[in-house]
Amino acid sequence: MKVLVTGAAGHIGKNLVKAIHQDYELVLTDIKQDDELKEYGHFQQADLALLEDVAKLAEGVDAIVHLGGIATESTYEQINRNNFNGTYHVYEAAKKHGVKRIVFASSNHAVGFHPINQSIGPEAPHLPDTYYGASKAFAENLANMYHLKHAIETASLRIGSYLEKPAEHRNLNTWISVRDMNQLIVRCLEADKIATSVFYGVSSLHNAYFDNRDAAKIGYNPEDNPEDYRSEIENVKLENVTDYIGGVFTNFGR
Ligand SMILES: NC(=O)c1ccc[n+]([C@@H]2O[C@H](COP(=O)([O-])OP(=O)(O)OC[C@H]3O[C@@H](n4cnc5c(N)ncnc54)[C@H](O)[C@@H]3O)[C@@H](O)[C@H]2O)c1
Repeated sequence: MKVLVTGAAGHIGKNLVKAIHQDYELVLTDIKQDDELKEYGHFQQADLALLEDVAKLAEGVDAIVHLGGIATESTYEQINRNNFNGTYHVYEAAKKHGVKRIVFASSNHAVGFHPINQSIGPEAPHLPDTYYGASKAFAENLANMYHLKHAIETASLRIGSYLEKPAEHRNLNTWISVRDMNQLIVRCLEADKIATSVFYGVSSLHNAYFDNRDAAKIGYNPEDNPEDYRSEIENVKLENVTDYIGGVFTNFGR
């Protein structure tokens, strides 16, 4: 299978590419030049904000893992350029070249204003906590539209906190390990049918924030568990912590 990975020079992208490069033919792209990536596939530097550049990258590929964009809160202008427009360009490129599957790095911040006292599933309505979260909610909706109109399937992964190991109290419910993230993305590439699915990118199938049992249906079986770190992190609480899933992001810009 030939797979295009956007944001390949980023944290998730680099680790993913190193883990899967022997199993897939990879086309790798990022706005940053990254010579190391050439070891793992065909690297092409490109800006997701430019439709012509993105369209060329999708030629002949079977699936796209879309990780590229601004990965935190920023100005509306930056989020608009890199996330709203960048994601729209990825879908247009997929349409143009008949790419039928996208695995999209969404975020818990698309649903960040849900309170933490109830575990939410894939059907939870969007309640973004930032422009960043709104861009992920927009992308999940775009996924529905391109599925219904153009039969492009998308798995949107509402990623929690991607870290080598959990660092603070909130990570008991949001952490995803490097190997679980890689596994979840591979399961989404390999699943027979995903239509437009939402899965949570966390190292557990059910916790206080997220009901991720749907992910087990495509074979996701996390190997790590933040509970193993409880004694180290349960008393580590960030300043301005809130009672919402999005944590401190719900306070940004107020
Ligand atoms: N790391 C997390 O905990 C987490 C949580 C939720 C969602 N996500 C999402 O996962 C994805 C990857 O996250 P990450 O932690 O690897 O972030 P990252 O910032 O390390 O990687 C993102 C990559 O996208 C690239 N990029 C940005 N704008 C671009 C553009 N216009 N054109 C081409 N490339 C561009 C950057 O250069 C960077 O290499 C992001 O979409 C992020 O929103 C991450």
